[in-house]
Amino acid sequence: MEDSQIGHYFLLELGEDMGNEEWVKHIDILVDFWAKIFLDDPLYNSDPYGPHFTIVGLEKEDFTRWVKLFSESTDRVYTQEISYLFKAKAIDYAQEFIERLKMNPESSELFW
Ligand code: HEM
Repeated sequence: MEDSQIGHYFLLELGEDMGNEEWVKHIDILVDFWAKIFLDDPLYNSDPYGPHFTIVGLEKEDFTRWVKLFSESTDRVYTQEISYLFKAKAIDYAQEFIERLKMNPESSELFW
């Protein structure tokens, strides 16, 4: 939310109060999403890509930034081995997002 490059997308879609209904729902969905990836938890059975198609102005560089911020968080929270797994998955998804959003993946270098 505080990031000058991508924070505004979250503020616009979900608001500035992380305790509000939208944010709480969003975080619950993300918990289910990652639990499905790593724990085979069946709770998430939706489409992770769809909601991003309606975010106006989203660009490939924004995903590079997202991966960087996400990686900093997983490095802080998890051991090196676990963090590596999250980062590898995040990059896979970010690249797929970029392709599906019809952007040019070749011009986007993802660093983490
Ligand atoms: C700059 C990049 C990104 C932005 C700005 C962004 C923003 C958002 C926003 C605002 C929502 C909520 C949409 C809504 O409920 O109205 C959302 C949903 C979601 N995002 Fe992202 N996102 C980004 C990248 C990613 C990436 C890389 C992943 C996966 C690794 C991801 C996974 C998800 C999932 C799973 C949902 C929930 C989809 C559902 O409703 O089932 N996002 N994102």
